Amino acid sequence: MVEVIRTEAATVAFDGTVVLDRLDWTVQEEERWVILGPNGAGKTSLLNMLSTNSHPTRGNVSVLGNELGLVDVFDLRPLIGVVSPRTTSLIPSTEPVRDVVMTSAWAITGRWRESYEDDDLNRADELMRVMGVGHLADRAFSTLSDGEKKRALIARALMPNPELLLLDEPATGLDLGAREALVQRLSVLAGDRSAPVQVMITHHVEEIPAGFTHAMLLRDGQVVAAGQIDATLTDENLTKTFDIPLSVSKVFSRYWAFAV
Ligand SMILES: Nc1ncnc2c1ncn2[C@@H]1O[C@H](COP(=O)(O)OP(=O)(O)OP(=O)(O)O)[C@@H](O)[C@H]1O
Ligand SMILES: [Mg+2]
Repeated sequence: MVEVIRTEAATVAFDGTVVLDRLDWTVQEEERWVILGPNGAGKTSLLNMLSTNSHPTRGNVSVLGNELGLVDVFDLRPLIGVVSPRTTSLIPSTEPVRDVVMTSAWAITGRWRESYEDDDLNRADELMRVMGVGHLADRAFSTLSDGEKKRALIARALMPNPELLLLDEPATGLDLGAREALVQRLSVLAGDRSAPVQVMITHHVEEIPAGFTHAMLLRDGQVVAAGQIDATLTDENLTKTFDIPLSVSKVFSRYWAFAV
């Protein structure tokens, strides 16, 4: 087993307020994790560390065997694909979708006289096809629907062939059809042993792709439960996490939950 993420008493505090509290967590190569929790639970703060955009206030975080603070993050970043509201906002609106995907091979946004090899072009086209946006390659990014944008951004995140893929609420704002199209594609990725390890934040158990193996429930910066997904997504744990009586079921490898 290869360890992809290790956090040891990882704590994030802003102006003395702890938003992630002494997190101990490991992720192995073959695992796919979903992180759930109420607004403000600390999910994005955790992801920001994993994407090397922040450091723990206290404790240690290692990503792909490199401890944050002891490694040049610019060496590590090409190995980590990120799709988050922040990365979306960095895309120039007029940029054609193919360039949005291609430029991430250089970990930049906005194409400016880089030269690309045929292999890069072929890889970008293949990833756009896999994510169902191949027919949109020449369109300006801003003209895509939200669902199409999300899928294009996942193709972009996969372009440098990362070893870790971090997704912060990728399905938020999508209609039912667009959500299902995205979840299906993420499910294919989850089942692909050659795909990067995936860690996804979501607000809804319905958005967990089939094939995800582990879950972490966070509340007020603390872990309510974490581990193998079926053992973690229980009525009791979800009720504790969201502070409302909840019942969760699993149908065709997907979850759904409602208040009881
Ligand atoms: N840069 C910052 N300065 C001060 N407080 C911050 C900062 N970033 C996050 N916080 C606070 O940390 C807490 C956790 O925020 P975080 O974004 O990690 O939550 P989240 O679980 O992702 O929530 P959501 O589901 O709403 O996205 C929140 O109370 C937030 O206000
Ligand atoms: Mg968040």
